[in-house]
Amino acid sequence: MKILDMLYEGKAKRIYATEDPNLLVMNYKDEATAFDGAKKGIIASKGIVNNRVSCLLFNLLEKHGVATHLVKQLDERNVLVRRMEMIPLEVVVRNVVAGSLAKRLGREEGQVLPVPVVELYYKSDELHDPMVNESHAQAFGWATKEQLTVMQQKALQVNQVLQPFFDSIGIILVDFKLEFGLADGEILLGDEISPDSCRLWDKETMDKLDKDRFRRDLGQEAEAYQEVVRRIEAALG
Ligand code: TMP
Repeated sequence: MKILDMLYEGKAKRIYATEDPNLLVMNYKDEATAFDGAKKGIIASKGIVNNRVSCLLFNLLEKHGVATHLVKQLDERNVLVRRMEMIPLEVVVRNVVAGSLAKRLGREEGQVLPVPVVELYYKSDELHDPMVNESHAQAFGWATKEQLTVMQQKALQVNQVLQPFFDSIGIILVDFKLEFGLADGEILLGDEISPDSCRLWDKETMDKLDKDRFRRDLGQEAEAYQEVVRRIEAALG
């Protein structure tokens, strides 16, 4: 597959056109940002880890009937995906209280939720990805009621696959963020699922194995990312 012009450069990935108008290449970078780009750094080999982790998890999800944009991993940093029209929403699923939920509702991090919490955020760095509800999404034309129902159902289905999977490799899936798009009218899971977009805590030590190490200046980010890919490869690779 010939890689053509770069169409878009985001904070952690670049998107390229290919000879096939229906396919794109996503190229993963080592650059890390937090707080909507206000904090910047590099996590060594992050792009390689996130590409591999995301490909293995998307493959696992496909096996469980969740349709994704994944076509195939091309090499360490590049993956071939279906072109989609992206829905400008982030869907967050939470199993354990952490991060912005802990802050907003004044709850202790680590409290296990009796049912998963699903939240929607409008994708906009300028506005700091504000939390929105279904009626905002419909009123501003970001997604239809039907699309919102499908996205939230799929997000819970992803949780039902990934939570037990991570548990089996000694990791608590605290929370994660998904993005969806439309291809031929069908809603597909897009973007990535990686230690950048999930909170992953070691079951034994409760160590953070995700981007919170960078956000909170905890150090050893690269080692934590390597540990995650090592365990996933051992189970699925
Ligand atoms: P939050 O607690 O900061 O709202 O984050 C919830 C989850 O979403 C966490 O797993 C990290 C992920 N996330 C992203 O992938 N991108 C973002 O821009 C933010 C704020 C969170």
